[in-house]
Amino acid sequence: MSTATNRPVNRKVTLLKYADGPVTPDMFRLEEEPAREPGEGEVLVETDSISIDAFIRTSLNDWEGFHMQVPLGGVIGALAVGRVIESNAKGWEPGDAVSGPLGAQSFATVPTGMLQKVDDSLPLSTYLGALGLTTGLTAFCGMRYVGQVKEGETVLVSGAAGAVGSIAGQVAKLDGAKVIGIAGGPDKVKFLTETLGIDAGIDYKNENVADRVKDLAPKGIDVFFDNVGGEILDVALDNIRERGRVAICGAISQYDDHLNVRGPSLYLRLAERYARMEGFTVMHFADKFPEAFAQLGQWVAEGKLKMPEHVVDGIESFPDALITMFNGGHMGKMLVKP
Ligand SMILES: NC(=O)c1ccc[n+]([C@@H]2O[C@H](COP(=O)([O-])OP(=O)(O)OC[C@H]3O[C@@H](n4cnc5c(N)ncnc54)[C@H](OP(=O)(O)O)[C@@H]3O)[C@@H](O)[C@H]2O)c1
Repeated sequence: MSTATNRPVNRKVTLLKYADGPVTPDMFRLEEEPAREPGEGEVLVETDSISIDAFIRTSLNDWEGFHMQVPLGGVIGALAVGRVIESNAKGWEPGDAVSGPLGAQSFATVPTGMLQKVDDSLPLSTYLGALGLTTGLTAFCGMRYVGQVKEGETVLVSGAAGAVGSIAGQVAKLDGAKVIGIAGGPDKVKFLTETLGIDAGIDYKNENVADRVKDLAPKGIDVFFDNVGGEILDVALDNIRERGRVAICGAISQYDDHLNVRGPSLYLRLAERYARMEGFTVMHFADKFPEAFAQLGQWVAEGKLKMPEHVVDGIESFPDALITMFNGGHMGKMLVKP
């Protein structure tokens, strides 16, 4: 337990300069300071794991994007899980396991209103992965409520070996669809079919995606769950079936030049096929979270839903982990353990 005399040193990653294209290590600084004493209604949390998410990139521009903006000198925003080590809030005790926007730091003093208590009979990182807001819940809500996947349908997922994509593909499979994933490199294609158990993979770095989609889905695609955007979105639109659905979860191929996003050129396929394309953020489905959480939790408990983790040790590795995530150097959920 932390007290005024033994309060720990917080190691935090702050923003030194805004991004100008891809994220680079010189944008960040590692700083140390004594962890702050919790004020009234606050707790001091020791971070267990930090979620490396694509949205972090969109908060590092010198203009305010959809996910807000990290100020120069500010701690990089990130979701994390940890344990309370000191409390100044009624009903919150040292040892409580929590999840929330703790940021890229080893200790965080935060108001309890920012946190959720979590059940620590599961590994805490589960609440960033399969049961995490920006991973499991995003994938589930996008596939079920936007994609409206049905048994027997053919589903295509881009970014399929990443965090959201891994769960999105498995949700579609568990819902009875034939699932094809797109990912970069032969190891990732193997991961899709052998580890995640989805039906087929396309290696967009070494194969012709348009040809492979036609081979694997000769009758077309009922649902496209898109994490990537750009040319892959056009291939999917070209192969969308009558009454097909395109769920726009993200467009990671476009985030380094967010003010100059390249849109699809084949959007008229939507009209020709009476298909629809619908974007979403997970927060649009807050009313569905209990249902989504219950279903994902049941699949996790039954061992039906896998969320392999790529864990990087040390808070000083946070910038490299973020860069690795964009370069596709991981499979499943990317985490930093400070
Ligand atoms: N709508 C929402 O509420 C919501 C919430 C969370 C996340 N998202 C979105 O979900 C997507 C995935 O996020 P995540 O956190 O789960 O990350 P992730 O998929 O674990 O990692 C990103 C992956 O994107 C792939 N990638 C990067 N650049 C690419 C490019 N130019 N072309 C094709 N693939 C590329 C890389 O895999 P390869 O090796 O296969 O290239 C990389 O592993 C992102 O678009 C994110 O914005 C949306």
